[in-house]
This record gives sequence, structure tokens and C-alpha cells, in this order.
Amino acid sequence: MWIYENIDEIDAEQLLLKYGHRDKNNYGEAEIIYPGKPSKAKMSLTSKYGMGEFPFHTDVAYWPMPAKYLAFYCLNPGQGGRVTRIINLESKLDEFAKVIGQKSDLFVIKKRAKPFYTKLINGSKHDRWIRWDQEIMSPVIEPKISSRINEYISQQEAFNIHWKPDMLVIIDNRRMLHARGNSDVIDSDRILKRIFIN
Ligand SMILES: [Fe+2]
Repeated sequence: MWIYENIDEIDAEQLLLKYGHRDKNNYGEAEIIYPGKPSKAKMSLTSKYGMGEFPFHTDVAYWPMPAKYLAFYCLNPGQGGRVTRIINLESKLDEFAKVIGQKSDLFVIKKRAKPFYTKLINGSKHDRWIRWDQEIMSPVIEPKISSRINEYISQQEAFNIHWKPDMLVIIDNRRMLHARGNSDVIDSDRILKRIFIN
């Protein structure tokens, strides 16, 4: 994870070019996101959780290959002090795979026009990566696998990002999971710019 503070928007855009190119698959342009933002997408986190907290997930887990990096640029941290929570699983993917069990690790994603099968822990031994979004990944073999996955996730130490204006955070979307924290007040003024990098 990389955190840059007091970086202006134009410099942030330039800096992101060092990490790769912007994904042209769905969002060539940055997307403005804020709590409560209406979403037309079926099975979106907002449609289920509204203004509440979001569970840990991979962004765009319904893409055949989720974006490598996920960048957030803070335009306004909002009055709710809502954090973004991060879990780094980079060194834990082998352990996670063992805990879950290879035989049970099969899901179907129906969010796209063409449903496809996928796993939680993907890739080869030397290049493991994770895909997790409980809202769109339906277990194929073991119905209770999702609760076992969430139990493992809940045991991991999370890092909280306390947003400040002009802060840029880049996370490895295939080795870290992120979640949206809670807010006691309506904080649609918490505005982040989200960019996918490959
Ligand atoms: Fe997300």
C-alpha cells in the first residue's frame, strides 16, 4: 500500500502513471464515489448496505481479472470521519488457501451477462492472488464457505485509513481486501475519486 499526503489532483494523476495504465475495461475515467451514491449495478454493495459499512472485498471482483491496483484520491474526508479499512493478505494467501481448503474453493459469479466460475485463492504457487466479494460470489461446493472465509478475515489485523483532503492511497487490489467503515452521521460529503490501474 502506498499513501501520499498533500498531493494535488494533477500530481496524483501523474504519479499513478508510474503504477500502470488506467483500466479501460469499464472505467477509463476516474469515478467519484460517496456514501449513498445511487448505483444501477445489480448486487452492488450500496444497494445492500446503503450508508452502512461495507464488508471486506476486492473491487470489481466480477471482472474476469480484477484490476491490479485500486487508487483512491480524497476530495473531501466528510464530516463522519469514515475510515477505509485495509487487510494485507500478501503473505497469508497460502495459509488462507489451507484454512479454506482447495476442494471447497469454487464460486460462480453471475453478475455479468456470461456467468463464470472462479476461486477465492487464484494463481500459481509463486503468484497467488485473491478475489473476494461475498455479494457476488456464490459458493458452488460448500454453502457455508463464505462464513468460514469471513471468520478468517475477521481474525486479520486491519489498517484504518483516516482520510484527509488531497490524500492518495494505492492498494494492491488482488492481495489486499478493503472495507468501508461506519459513520454516525450522514456523510455524503465524503467524496473519493476511484481509479483502477493495471
Ligand atoms: Fe470497494
